[in-house]
Amino acid sequence: MRSTTRHFQRYYNPDVGNAIRMDTNTNVLGSNPAAVEFMKAQRTDLNDYPNTYSDGLRDTLAELYGLERENFVVGSGSDETLDIAFKTFTEWGDNAAVPVPSYSLYDYFVSMNGGKAYPVYLTDDFQLDVDAMLKPDAKVLIMPSPNNPTGNSFKKKDIEEILERSKGIVIVDEAYGEYAGTSMIPMVNEFENLIVMRTFSKAYAMAALRVGYAVSNLNISDMMNCVKIPYSLNSISEGAAIAAVKDQEFIKKSVKLVNDNRKPLTDGLKKLGFEPFPSDANFILARSPIDHKVLTDGLKKKGVLIRDFGSKRRTENCVRTTIGSKELNDILLKKTEEVISGR
Ligand SMILES: Cc1ncc(COP(=O)(O)O)c(C=O)c1O
Repeated sequence: MRSTTRHFQRYYNPDVGNAIRMDTNTNVLGSNPAAVEFMKAQRTDLNDYPNTYSDGLRDTLAELYGLERENFVVGSGSDETLDIAFKTFTEWGDNAAVPVPSYSLYDYFVSMNGGKAYPVYLTDDFQLDVDAMLKPDAKVLIMPSPNNPTGNSFKKKDIEEILERSKGIVIVDEAYGEYAGTSMIPMVNEFENLIVMRTFSKAYAMAALRVGYAVSNLNISDMMNCVKIPYSLNSISEGAAIAAVKDQEFIKKSVKLVNDNRKPLTDGLKKLGFEPFPSDANFILARSPIDHKVLTDGLKKKGVLIRDFGSKRRTENCVRTTIGSKELNDILLKKTEEVISGR
């Protein structure tokens, strides 16, 4: 195996069964309705290749944001667009600045493309340490905002300072951007080095269809489209995503559900002895009052999956749960109380 990938391990792949999934931060309302309607009605000729660069979806996104088709790179999940960014900009051995804690797959994309992930610890309140991010003089600097798994957004002024002071490519991963209500997308033409990533897997409730996109200035987008594997997004996913973008009411409803239920879930967790951290996303990271593994294994036995971050540095004994509807949160809190009290 290639020396740079020899340390890789398989990704999270739990035995799900009929469990309630509060571990993947997907939309608890279930399948995106406009995408479902599209799929029921679609008459795609399966003999045809998809459009090479998903122009239909890029046009729809351009209209949504008031940008041009050529500001967008579309891929099979934002995981693909992240991979494209590292493929396009990382030379063998280049540093990439990666905040800790943040999305676990960043290290994988960096190493897979020959780079070296340089870990940069967040401050005590999980904000960016701007000087530390700039220190490795990285070719690519990546930051998810809101951050996964901590849930908070990074300060816009810190991101802008990094963009101004760094000569590297700065990726702002807004996988949970719909929930935060703020975005760097309107600024992509102002910076030479900004790429914003978005996904249809979270607020859009379409994780099964694997659609994501990158937004950047025309120069960066063109380089990335040249590197991207042609046809990587299939036609059915593209059509479903176009339908979903046109139904912004569903996104508003999804965001409202999270906003309405964030505080009650936070309060419920506090009552059980957790220390929850502030969230701008559709999930909450919380320090557990009992051993993290006892908690996550106990909940799993009771049919509820949440994500365990308790063995990692800076998130010691912490777990992450998706914010559910009132009904789901009540089930989660009830079963958590049972596990804590040893029932
Ligand atoms: C911060 C962040 N970026 C990217 C992704 C990947 O999203 P996609 O499903 O579009 O590949 C996730 C998924 O959990 C995420 O949390």
